[in-house]
Amino acid sequence: MAVMMGLPIAVGYAVRLAEGLQNFFPWLTNIDCRVLYLHPVLVNFVAACVPVSLAFDIGSRLFKREAFRAVGAWNMVVAALFVPLVVFFGWLYWGSNDDGKSMAIHFWLGNSLAIVIIGLAIWRWRLYAKSRPASALYLVVTSITLVALAIQGHIGGSQ
Ligand code: HEM
Repeated sequence: MAVMMGLPIAVGYAVRLAEGLQNFFPWLTNIDCRVLYLHPVLVNFVAACVPVSLAFDIGSRLFKREAFRAVGAWNMVVAALFVPLVVFFGWLYWGSNDDGKSMAIHFWLGNSLAIVIIGLAIWRWRLYAKSRPASALYLVVTSITLVALAIQGHIGGSQ
């Protein structure tokens, strides 16, 4: 756990150090540290997979289609695979101007959403493994999560 928490912080400091060194050694600017700033790219996978998953899970209950159920389950699994990377690169993306109330919300909501989405994927996968459709409770929790995800993206985009 300590390693998981410490690694992004260590890499973050390494990036900041490299950026600081570039002021003294301009040739270092040839090394483009921005490759580590993948947060805005990776958020799109989570932002796409969660609503697609929910839509197909609702569709599978309405139209009783086995394929829709698989799409619903797999999309939530993919979202759960990407969300730790989103958080990891979010930490690296953090800049000195990212203070204030809205970014504090973005920080805490983002970390919490990662745990919730991984939990949803485990829940959804267990239902899928038993060949059961998404339950009404699961759909309600996922809908609330989707609203929180939209708020999270809105806060990040408006910073
Ligand atoms: C599910 C979780 C998350 C989602 C969906 C999300 C989404 C977003 C989005 C859409 C942006 C705008 C990107 C752009 O176009 O520049 C953004 C920016 C940002 N996010 Fe996240 N984020 C999440 C978690 C986090 C976490 C956990 C952190 C940090 C610990 C973080 C740190 C940042 C930072 C620093 C920015 C840039 C703000 C600026 O422009 O200064 N994010 N995020």
